[in-house]
Amino acid sequence: MLADINKAYRTSLLKPTRENIDLCAKNLIKGELVAFPTETVYGLGADGLNELAVKKIFEAKGRPHDNPLILHVADIKESYELAYVDDMAKDLMKAFWPGPLTLLLPKKSIVPHMTTAGLDTVALRMPDHDVAIRLIKAFGGPLAAPSANRSGRPSPTRAEHVLEDLDGRISAILEGGICDIGLESTVLDISSRPVQILRPGAITYEMLLPYCKDIVINSAVLAPLSPKNPVLSPGLAHRHYAPKGLLTLVEGSDKNVISKCKKLYDEAISSYKKAAIFSFSERKNYYEDRYVIDMGSLKNTGQIATKLFACLRQMDKEGVEYILSEVMPPQGLGLAIMNRLGRAADFRIIYADV
Ligand code: TXA
Ligand code: MG
Repeated sequence: MLADINKAYRTSLLKPTRENIDLCAKNLIKGELVAFPTETVYGLGADGLNELAVKKIFEAKGRPHDNPLILHVADIKESYELAYVDDMAKDLMKAFWPGPLTLLLPKKSIVPHMTTAGLDTVALRMPDHDVAIRLIKAFGGPLAAPSANRSGRPSPTRAEHVLEDLDGRISAILEGGICDIGLESTVLDISSRPVQILRPGAITYEMLLPYCKDIVINSAVLAPLSPKNPVLSPGLAHRHYAPKGLLTLVEGSDKNVISKCKKLYDEAISSYKKAAIFSFSERKNYYEDRYVIDMGSLKNTGQIATKLFACLRQMDKEGVEYILSEVMPPQGLGLAIMNRLGRAADFRIIYADV
């Protein structure tokens, strides 16, 4: 039996059998929290139309109340009850749902303010994961679900990451192995024009262009917020993904980046710091016997995305204090990777060519 929400939990790690999914759906109906896998990252689900249940998400995560949640649906038609869906939204849903695209649309009154953090828009997404869809269907309504991490930590791409962050704080975790994509969904604001990418993900700018002629990438995606960059998505304003150690990105020509990383790494080691260099499969050997984390091959950005959050979590587990990371071109999925790395580094960048 699963624990009651008002007591301290013994968080159960459950295989996604039919019986367990039904059990989790019952818990959600009671207003409890259940973590579940999606194709992007694990989500922390609650009844999205029940303010008390949604409030528990903010408490379990330690999430600021001004940061709105995504409602997850199992069917395109369900979104019509939650938001005003125009033709462009319908075309995008047809093209990319189920999948890693979250759409911001004007909300209908059925959606509580707790879910949208008082905003007039609601974020909707249909995940492309069998366990997520079965859970939403068994529950019978939209599930509010942020990434299932403690606020500020990298999003969880494995059930054990959820357990690391939320053990004792939620009733259950449905297991679903490693998330295929590994980075959160693209957040696209289509509630006003021009359409705007607030958070890049696996549905890339290039893929969206045929559906929305005028599309801009929010300036906060690759740069810190400033008075010139208004906060369109409250989530962008908060510290995110950051490992405990100091992470710095190193940019420039290959040769200069490698020699800069070596020099800074060696300085850190000589002052007795535990250090690491995030590099790519093609380049890792240039660092000889230094501690290198291979993020994956530059020819396979999907692999880099899948591993990135696990690499950041590994740094905390190993107590690494000083991390240098190479960068990659911010095109295609590279934009989402550089957005997460940039935010994890608080946009601390060293230019190796100057
Ligand atoms: O892939 C994903 O999107 C995962 C899985 C679980 O579906 N979910 C996820 O949720 O990443 P979360 O809460 O960690 O990120 C949602 C982002 C936040 O940056 C939030 O500020 C933004 O979406 N957001 C949600 N509703 C919004 C709204 N009405 N207006 C502006 N931004 C919104
Ligand atoms: Mg999150």
